[in-house]
Amino acid sequence: MTDPLNRWRERAADAVLLDGFHALKHALRFGAEVPVAVTTDREATLALAGELAGDVRDPLDALLTEVPQAVYASLVPRPHPTGVAALAVRPSREANLKALAHLPRTAPVVVLDEPRNLGNAGAVIRLAAGFGATGVVTTGTLDPWHPTVVRGGAGLHFATAVERLGVDELPAGPLFALDPEGDDIRRTELPDDAVLAFGSERSGLSAPLRARADRLLALPMRPQVSSYNLATSVAMTLYHWSLRAA
Ligand SMILES: C[S@@+](CC[C@H](N)C(=O)[O-])C[C@H]1O[C@@H](n2cnc3c(N)ncnc32)[C@H](O)[C@@H]1O
Repeated sequence: MTDPLNRWRERAADAVLLDGFHALKHALRFGAEVPVAVTTDREATLALAGELAGDVRDPLDALLTEVPQAVYASLVPRPHPTGVAALAVRPSREANLKALAHLPRTAPVVVLDEPRNLGNAGAVIRLAAGFGATGVVTTGTLDPWHPTVVRGGAGLHFATAVERLGVDELPAGPLFALDPEGDDIRRTELPDDAVLAFGSERSGLSAPLRARADRLLALPMRPQVSSYNLATSVAMTLYHWSLRAA
């Protein structure tokens, strides 16, 4: 069996870095393949698992290797307060495309049209995971698996299908694009097979996305306010969807 640090070095280039206890906890819960995990204090990490996440305590016990602080610091760009880090295998694009295309769909797909802010993308993936959305698709150049997005997503990339696609490749289903000039969302029930699209932080919805949209919907907002933050717009829209049959 290879030494954990050699395993780390062998896998680091093409794996997903899980930064901190909570990211590792979420990844394990949602079925990620985690070939290597390190901690600066095994006993403290297992105690934390016992306290907060009993369901993953045994898998962590089998997986965690204790390393000196200096070794841990050499493996991560920025040390995390929990002193925990792991590498996970990125799900295949093929598997994600299959999940995104699967019909009938029981929960919407969120589309971020040419997003710019890595933190927003991570927050949206966390939201999508929380609401049980089918997936999060980005268009444009931002990589939704960028380490900063993964950090913002708290390990929840493994709980929903995350991929980058062209507007012409979006999953089937009625496309509702969110825009302050649209119809009031409160008068519309969002179906489970909806594709919910949101524009970029800087310039809103792109022309190709607008052309593909079936409806434009607006979130309630008083006149003098120009727009909401992208991630909060996704939160309100998914919450609105979740009320459909409540
Ligand atoms: C920060 S806003 C974009 C602002 C941008 N300057 C613009 O011209 O639209 C990012 C995205 O959040 C969504 N959004 C923000 N406020 C909204 C509102 N009141 N109604 C519907 N969507 C909204 C839209 O999808 C928008 O493209």
